[in-house]
Amino acid sequence: MRRPLVAGNWKMNGSRADAGKLLDGIFQGADSVDETEIAVCPPFILIPLTADKLARGSNVAWGGQDLDTHTSGAYTGEVSGGMLRDYGCTFVIVGHSERRSIYGEDDATVASKFKVAQEHGLIPILCVGELLEEREADQTETVVARQLDAVLELCGIESMEQAVIAYEPVWAIGTGKTATPEQAQAVHAFIRNKLRELNSTIAGGVRILYGGSVKAANAAELFAQDDIDGGLIGGASLDADEFLNICRAG
Ligand code: 13P
Repeated sequence: MRRPLVAGNWKMNGSRADAGKLLDGIFQGADSVDETEIAVCPPFILIPLTADKLARGSNVAWGGQDLDTHTSGAYTGEVSGGMLRDYGCTFVIVGHSERRSIYGEDDATVASKFKVAQEHGLIPILCVGELLEEREADQTETVVARQLDAVLELCGIESMEQAVIAYEPVWAIGTGKTATPEQAQAVHAFIRNKLRELNSTIAGGVRILYGGSVKAANAAELFAQDDIDGGLIGGASLDADEFLNICRAG
């Protein structure tokens, strides 16, 4: 049985004061969420505050939104996996579509970020997903398979024992256009079946999250699908009540 996971990706939002209020709200409400594992991924600069707020007995984990492929050294502006671990991060998002499209991260870079995350004891949340034109050209499975293969070839199927996958169709991110539960389930099943060809036990255990305009109003229907094990939440994770209601739908 896979335990559902709901992770908030705050992206580049929030002052220290905003984050403090949001974290207090999540902390207070998280006790009433039983089954779902909860995580938040704030901007790097808010991770120390997050660690301070959540380390005091909350059941909420935290993580980074990205990390560098290097361990340390002359890489101005970057943050390493070791630094994230030092601040108590459990998770780190790798290959978010905004990193791929705005910052030019290719499949090989994403795969090496996945690898270095695990080397530092972090659980990577590997994002995959197609653009609208790729879906319209019937390329969804080809694109998702290519994104997954880059990681599987570098790290092997065993790496999926300590990883989370997030299917985020790019056309659904921040647009208010959620994939239908059937559309999402079809891609999630494709991902799991692809992993099953390599190792059925690992494929059965890996959590595959859906991301893209998830709200409290549509979460339950999405999370009820056989191969959807929770969500990666952008905009709706900036409101504690809304985010907790999504967690309750897990
Ligand atoms: P939205 O929930 O704002 O669509 O963002 C999804 C996402 O990109 C989470 O990583």
